[in-house]
Amino acid sequence: MSTKAYFNGEIGNYDEMSIPLSDRSVFYGDAVYDAVLVLNKKPFTLGLHLDRLYRSCELTDIRFTMPREKLVEEIDRLLAVSEGDSLMLYLQVTRGAAPRKHEYPANTEPNLIMFLAPTKLPPKDKRASLLGIEDLRFQYCNIKTTNLMPNVFAAEKATKAGATEAMLHRGARVTEGAHSSILMIKDGTVVMPPLDELVLPGITRKVIHSLCDRHGIPVSLREFSVDELMAADEIILCSTTKNVIYVYEIDGVAVGGKDRALAQRIQALFLDEVYRETGARI
Ligand code: PDD
Repeated sequence: MSTKAYFNGEIGNYDEMSIPLSDRSVFYGDAVYDAVLVLNKKPFTLGLHLDRLYRSCELTDIRFTMPREKLVEEIDRLLAVSEGDSLMLYLQVTRGAAPRKHEYPANTEPNLIMFLAPTKLPPKDKRASLLGIEDLRFQYCNIKTTNLMPNVFAAEKATKAGATEAMLHRGARVTEGAHSSILMIKDGTVVMPPLDELVLPGITRKVIHSLCDRHGIPVSLREFSVDELMAADEIILCSTTKNVIYVYEIDGVAVGGKDRALAQRIQALFLDEVYRETGARI
């Protein structure tokens, strides 16, 4: 069965659907999005993703008025016609259609695009590697917007170099991956970059944070440098589509591997949470 897509209430085959040329996401990337892992037809932490989607709309002044309950109903309709045990639900809210002009009209009606595509998560024992790349993005990285050119370039460069993901850094400060979060473990504490405008508030790291809180594992939100990351006890790479995996190498240099017990505990807590909510073992 082919991938199913949705546009403003209409459901069809992904390859056959289209959006209006005048949609502002075409000319300006004037849209926000979110991506949710769906296992056994059950979206994992859907509530947190919808919180972020509506927040992204607020931050961009995209006046998406569809009530949350209605959005969940529409997601359920799409889920009902989709097949597969491991899917990614993609949601995009665009500012809507308007003649091309930088300023936006006050009354554009946002467009809602969704699709459900098969996704294959990396196994939990995947040996991830990172390639250091200067973070050249703008200062709205806290918004999940479709303006992703620097992320696209970084992901492409990292993959071409044979790395699992980019390690973006602004000068010395590590921010995140091109499409994932980067955390480290140092002296028994999980260190996460602070949630400012240079970092996306990742849902996977949020889940890890609350699991750590619940299980008495200390978490510190603070900036850390490339040198600190290289010397960390463990490095965790995580996202909706990347699972929670460890990093073994940065720029060809061996890293981490010094606190496997805690790293494995965090991974196990996360995988148990996924199982609890979806019934799937990943
Ligand atoms: N990307 N940082 C960036 C820049 C991201 O694009 C993502 C996710 C994350 C991790 O966020 P989360 O844990 O909520 O997936 C961090 C998604 C998967 C994407 O763009 O496809």
